[in-house]
Amino acid sequence: MDISSVLQGGYHHPLSREWQSRRELTKNMFMYPIFITDEPQAEVEIASLPGQKRWGIEKLDRLLAPLVQKGLRSVILFGVPVNCQKDPHGGPADDPSGPVIQAIHLIRKQYPSLYIACDVCLCEYTSHGHCGYLVHNPDGSTTIDNAASVKRIAQVALAYAKAGAHCVAPSDMMDGRVKAIKRALIEAGLGNRCTLMSYSAKFASAMYGPFRDAAGSTPSFGDRKCYQLPPGAHGLAQRAIIRDIAEGADIIMVKPALPYLDVLSQARDRLAPSHPLAAYQVSGEYAMIVAGARAGVYDLRTMAFESVNCIVRAGATLILSYFTPEFLDWLDS
Ligand code: PBG
Ligand code: ZN
Repeated sequence: MDISSVLQGGYHHPLSREWQSRRELTKNMFMYPIFITDEPQAEVEIASLPGQKRWGIEKLDRLLAPLVQKGLRSVILFGVPVNCQKDPHGGPADDPSGPVIQAIHLIRKQYPSLYIACDVCLCEYTSHGHCGYLVHNPDGSTTIDNAASVKRIAQVALAYAKAGAHCVAPSDMMDGRVKAIKRALIEAGLGNRCTLMSYSAKFASAMYGPFRDAAGSTPSFGDRKCYQLPPGAHGLAQRAIIRDIAEGADIIMVKPALPYLDVLSQARDRLAPSHPLAAYQVSGEYAMIVAGARAGVYDLRTMAFESVNCIVRAGATLILSYFTPEFLDWLDS
């Protein structure tokens, strides 16, 4: 055999196999998505998202204490209001007595080492379930009022930042929201104290179903195709990433993860080589992996590792994953 044909010598040992990775998988790469409801005692299973729950503020300790003990470094909070009055403008999003702001206060106090990101969107709080404001046009159509949406989203992001969030993460996909949020943070004196993680390349995926069950954020009519990106869009995803960098995003996210690794890899190599890159392994990806394992297609742990190893190979520096609690155990053993 030719010398140049022999590769196996480089990965015959478990340790030398690890050296072949672009980066080693570590606990601090994981950010855990948490659903927080306004029923303080709630601890409710979510049928389509096996193993995940909606948590009331009084139960957060039960969830977080063991995870922090195992090395959990960061969470991303999603509010799930069930008792409040939703309105067309997502009024409850920045209610100081609402679940997200209450959770920020509690976590800052009880778990000072935990990094708190907050998802910023209106769909959990609007009566119509869309991520922005709607406008009813004279021709009978209903579209998004982008300018008004952006103003409101910046207001909500600022409220979370003021409450003590270390990071605000707009997932709404309105045009210009990154710039508006960054400006609001700077004007409030928080420009150097709050990270802006943009869901930059967020695609209109069928894999958000379990999340919408969990968060109660399914649109009451229509879909999100006029603001989330078309799954086949290549150039548009690149433009969205370039735009968000120009508008001041500190971290760029690609979402979902596995089917969109080409976008992640382009961001790593060309579009955002100087930024941390986040990949969101979304609810449907998690549910698929769990369902496949239950159906005997593969071993859960092996498949979960393969999925995140591939996400890191493509260039992610952090991964938002519902498997985070499992990885805190698995990365110890
Ligand atoms: C809300 C939001 C969604 C997700 C994160 N933020 C749902 C959506 O856009 O419909 C999806 C996360 C997941 O599926 O795990 N804008
Ligand atoms: Zn939304």
